[in-house]
Amino acid sequence: MTKMQLFDSLPLLRATLAAYKLHGKTIGLVPTMGNLHAGHLALVATARAQCDVVITTIFVNPLQFGPNEDLARYPRSFAADIKNLEQSACDVLYAPTTTEIYPHGTVVHTKISVPELSALHCGYTRPGHFDGVCTVVAKLFNIIQPDKAFFGYKDYQQFHLISTMVSDLQIPLQVYGIATMRESSGLALSSRNVYLSTTDRNNAAALFATLQESALQIMGGEHNFRQIEARASGTLNKVGLKTDYVHICNRSTLHLASIGDTDLIILAAVYAGTTRLIDNIFVQITI
Ligand code: PAJ
Repeated sequence: MTKMQLFDSLPLLRATLAAYKLHGKTIGLVPTMGNLHAGHLALVATARAQCDVVITTIFVNPLQFGPNEDLARYPRSFAADIKNLEQSACDVLYAPTTTEIYPHGTVVHTKISVPELSALHCGYTRPGHFDGVCTVVAKLFNIIQPDKAFFGYKDYQQFHLISTMVSDLQIPLQVYGIATMRESSGLALSSRNVYLSTTDRNNAAALFATLQESALQIMGGEHNFRQIEARASGTLNKVGLKTDYVHICNRSTLHLASIGDTDLIILAAVYAGTTRLIDNIFVQITI
């Protein structure tokens, strides 16, 4: 097992990373909000396979939570996270305080925004959320200056936004996306799954099953996308989930798909009880 170095403040972290860079080591970054599960650890494993030095960050970013969201009760399991990261051969853990990331408070002077993309899908229900994500991720990129950064496809809109930000701001790093890790029921692993009651958890399995069903309908030749979305929303509502949206999109623009688009993704968000869950599925069709 590697001895992982743990930093909660910037100067020492910077000095350590500078030494790695001086020796020509490639640095891979896995940003997280902690309460790590096998999905997070799959990102760490991929970074481990591709980079000399793996750095994971744990920071519950207040800027990406809305006023009525779960910032105060967001699940934290720092001791277990450290153990899991050590077992995954992570080299460095950076777990900064809120004051270090936002020294002037969370009314920040500078924000990073990818406005058009941020307003779609989850952004519609969670205004400001993606500005918070982009701002903190840009800060982490500046602090750490990794060669590669790893994100989950589970949060596909987030992955897409960060890739766009990196390209628009010409940040010299490569962004990698990793497939979603799931429970055997199909439910995507998520830190927020701990909120689910037994009933919610049973209902939640319908989310991925419904996405798979919609994907099969598309691959079977049905191309009235809006009708498929409506049907999926109805199915989800019927099994006790409350649909926020089901959107069949062009995977490279994340705009609603129209006839002729072949590389698709179905994005969905639902509430299981009061817990918001998101998931997606890729669909490739030939015309
Ligand atoms: P968090 O929800 O902790 O997720 C950290 C990373 O793990 C993200 O890239 C997310 O997509 C990935 N991930 C989550 N569940 C996954 C699963 N089941 N399979 C594979 N990967 C999964 O996403 C965030 O934190 C934050 O918004 C962050 C990017 C850290 C910025 O604050």
